[in-house]
Amino acid sequence: MLFDKLTRLLGDALRPKPEYITVTPVTDSQPAPVLPPPEALPRHVAIIMDGNGRWATSRGLPRSAGHAAGTEALRDIIRASDDWGIGALSLYAFSTENWSRSKEEVAALMGLLLKYFSSEIDELDEKNVKITILGDVDGMPEPQRQALLSAMERTGDNTGLRLNIALNYGGRAELTRAARLLARAAKDGEIEPDDIDEDAFAAKLYTAGLPDVDLLIRTSGEMRTSNFLPWQLAYAEMVFDDCFWPDFDRTHYMKCLAIYAGRDRRFGGVKGQTPSTTA
Ligand code: FPP
Repeated sequence: MLFDKLTRLLGDALRPKPEYITVTPVTDSQPAPVLPPPEALPRHVAIIMDGNGRWATSRGLPRSAGHAAGTEALRDIIRASDDWGIGALSLYAFSTENWSRSKEEVAALMGLLLKYFSSEIDELDEKNVKITILGDVDGMPEPQRQALLSAMERTGDNTGLRLNIALNYGGRAELTRAARLLARAAKDGEIEPDDIDEDAFAAKLYTAGLPDVDLLIRTSGEMRTSNFLPWQLAYAEMVFDDCFWPDFDRTHYMKCLAIYAGRDRRFGGVKGQTPSTTA
């Protein structure tokens, strides 16, 4: 027990720290973060839940144990988002590239997915959460495909938290799909090519109707967007937390939200200046 703890602490200390981290690990000596007022909260939060594998490996556990622990973290972050009135939460759960992982790991993730939906769907529906899957649902194995379609159908009319789970998702694939849908509509005479503007394009994305992402959080110290929501992240603020995803809890989340609330968002403009004529 003590030996395990020491090994873990040593591992954490030796893990190279990226040069630029915006969230320092939460320690007892730091004041607890405070939830920003509702008007300062992001409307749409996206999270890249990274570090499950390293969390498990640093404890001598199989990677699947990291994903199981990561599912517990995800459960509470969804609840916190609902409790705090976040409008939309998009989670990167499985990319199109993740199929290249070992058969065992993919099977473990698929198993967790089924388990998650069967154990959580009642509570999510009761809380008025609307679930949308971002990605190619038809490319999922049949039991998972059925569970995902049924979750989307069951919660389709809900009006609370918009919970988006990216599965079998790739950002470039999402953009090419939107282009294909628009090209088809133009070919069929439903729209004119000149009608294709940013709004028309956004309407063909999986996130149609949702505001752009205001805040992207990525755990585990990695600082990449990894093909996640490239269109929707165009003006997102990014906060990187160096804890592994299974350790990300409400305190970490609150801290990320507080950092976001303190950011100065200008969207390409300059504060205090009267805008010139629009382009
Ligand atoms: C990244 O960590 C995490 C994933 C690829 C999977 C995320 C999945 C979950 C949190 C649980 C399952 C999801 C649902 C919706 C039930 P990694 O494995 O790449 O970690 P590493 O970088 O340390 O190897």
